[in-house]
Amino acid sequence: MKDILTAPFMVEMIRTVTEMYRHGWDERNGGNVSLLLDKSEADAYLEENGVIRTIPAGFSCPELAGRYFLVTGTGKYFKNVQYAPDVNLGLVRLDDTGENAELLWGFTDGGKFTSEFPAHMMSHAARLTIDPHNRVVMHCHPANLLAMTYVHSLDEREFTRTLWQMCTECIVVFPDGVNVLPWMLCGTSEIGIATAGKMQTARLVVWSQHGIYGAGKDLDETFGLIETAEKAAEIYMKIAHLPLVNTITDEQLHLLEERFGVRAREGYLH
Ligand code: 13P
Ligand code: ZN
Repeated sequence: MKDILTAPFMVEMIRTVTEMYRHGWDERNGGNVSLLLDKSEADAYLEENGVIRTIPAGFSCPELAGRYFLVTGTGKYFKNVQYAPDVNLGLVRLDDTGENAELLWGFTDGGKFTSEFPAHMMSHAARLTIDPHNRVVMHCHPANLLAMTYVHSLDEREFTRTLWQMCTECIVVFPDGVNVLPWMLCGTSEIGIATAGKMQTARLVVWSQHGIYGAGKDLDETFGLIETAEKAAEIYMKIAHLPLVNTITDEQLHLLEERFGVRAREGYLH
């Protein structure tokens, strides 16, 4: 059996959460990440039939029965993952009912998966129906996106258009736009269902006055998605109180669509 700490998925997970912390997106235990693994990918690093504990998920996600996830722990600091990955991360398999997580590695202090596990699992299930290559769901608390939800309309079209206008590359990186949920109680199945619903039409979902969710085919892509939206929000927060003299016009956004072969969300451009 190979050392799981050398597995490419583990190395990439540790690097990514460390980078998220350095970006200031994950204060204290803020944020959580889940990475869907292929059985064959995970098996090389695991004991056969080595279920350490069975942890009730608290919801049912039969679409993901038998699937493996590397996931951050609840209450764990991203800052510490690189020093003690086996305490702060866990590798779990959803059982045949999709109602329990079987712990196969990690959470060695008796801990468990993030309190946002419902939103993660339901979002994975939602994204997989749209993109079978989706592997990552990432949640964090980037300051500028969060700040924007205090001063900008939460209308999804308006929110998306503002971000697209802040940096030329935004429409290329997230042509499907950004969906927005109003403030809701976090850590619940209700916010999980609502997030998954929003994930049907976009890979970014803002949780007003809380943070953002991103989904993508790998950790790099998902990190880059949030990084790009957060950069746009940062520019918005720098200019929102100043008289606007120039912007990126809809005509120019259409030129970007053509040049980069992307289609902006239907009805979002004039
Ligand atoms: P966890 O520590 O349970 O992952 O919660 C952090 C968080 O960001 C809640 O939304
Ligand atoms: Zn959060």
